[in-house]
Amino acid sequence: MLTGVFGWFALLFEPLAFQPPLIQPQPRLRNDDGQIPIPAPGPWQDIITGHYGVPAILKIHDRKGVVKWSWQREDVTQVLPPRIKSGLFSNANDATEMKWMRDGKSVGAIYSNLVVVINHTPEYPSTDKQITFAVSRESDDLRNAHTLEPLPGDRLAVATTGQRPWDGILVYNMSSALPLVDEPPVLQRVEGLRAIHAMIWDEELQVLWATGTDAAADGSDPVPAYGVIQGYPFDAVSGQLREDKAYRFRFPEYYDIDTEWGHGYSWWSGPHDLVPVPNERTFLVSNDIGLHAFDIKTMQFTAAYEEVTDKYMRGFEVTTNDRHGINRQGQYEELPQSDLKGFSLAPDGSFVYVQSLWNLYRGNHTSLVVDGVRHQIMKGDEIYRSRWFGDIDGWPKPRT
Ligand SMILES: *[C@@H]1O[C@H](CO)[C@@H](O)[C@H](O)[C@H]1NC(C)=O
Ligand SMILES: *[C@@H]1O[C@H](CO)[C@@H](O)[C@H](O)[C@H]1NC(C)=O
Repeated sequence: MLTGVFGWFALLFEPLAFQPPLIQPQPRLRNDDGQIPIPAPGPWQDIITGHYGVPAILKIHDRKGVVKWSWQREDVTQVLPPRIKSGLFSNANDATEMKWMRDGKSVGAIYSNLVVVINHTPEYPSTDKQITFAVSRESDDLRNAHTLEPLPGDRLAVATTGQRPWDGILVYNMSSALPLVDEPPVLQRVEGLRAIHAMIWDEELQVLWATGTDAAADGSDPVPAYGVIQGYPFDAVSGQLREDKAYRFRFPEYYDIDTEWGHGYSWWSGPHDLVPVPNERTFLVSNDIGLHAFDIKTMQFTAAYEEVTDKYMRGFEVTTNDRHGINRQGQYEELPQSDLKGFSLAPDGSFVYVQSLWNLYRGNHTSLVVDGVRHQIMKGDEIYRSRWFGDIDGWPKPRT
């Protein structure tokens, strides 16, 4: 599809201009035999999906779409500080992010106008569904926050998802021992990565990986924005994320998105999700155009588009037949992998994905692929993301 247009393959196998240092696992993570412990496999029956609306609903459901647990603001009975309450009961329809955390006992989410961590303890109704951490998005920093990820020491990284040079990541203390407050203090502010849409903790390297853009994705900078994958090594002693240019990897090309949004559209293609392949040192990353694979050992982009689906996502299908248009060069182009806002791979080879409708920001179902066959679940719901509700093998959430 795109290979002719972008000449991607030539770029794909060219070595990077510089050789980044290879990162070794830290000694404390090694077993005696030098192997990284691999957690026991999860059941891979539970999926978490965000259903947009006022109010939005977070749903944990099985592979058939049968809902086992859900959370919405009417479930909240605790007393909340005023800004948190107003963020929860805002008119925002967002259910932008939702993640398995703390051995499944918590859900981290971007919900309405809040960044929240919620108890998921259905066996203990007295604590179930309580908010244990929250920060309002009604602020200049977090207005557009799209994602969050736990860090060691009960820290929580929240991406600001803005367009300015000072956008990036804010780190909070999400300890449930702390009371909910209107303005939880920021432990660390990491600037310089715009439009971050996904983050993933790497326990083996003790690195937080994020994907965003190097310049304003909305076109407000005089230069095009490239997609970037950046790793931030976590220093266990200081408790700080470290910035190191050696872990900043730019996509080989930038892309306009005229094919979908019309001639001369100002936004550049930005990354949407950064997804580990279970038990492998590989990321898959989606953007507005399609999928790329990134090898963490060699720190190289290794595959693109159909190569990625052929290798890692067999059974991927375009969800609507209207994903085509005229690109900036005036050529007809099909973009079957466009706008994968969220996807998630299980160790048994099954995977879920959400592709927004063409010219819209969300999809109207979740695709679940089992043994290479796609099923549609949560049909009719307005959805941005679905993820497996489990600890991905080889990619555990922080152990400390
Ligand atoms: C977070 O708060 C808890 C509870 O007060 C405290 O024990 C912990 O040291 C704090 N962590 C950081 C990194 O400040
Ligand atoms: C989802 O949207 C597509 C494209 O508009 C439409 O063809 C399909 O019927 C919709 N599906 C549901 C479940 O609403």
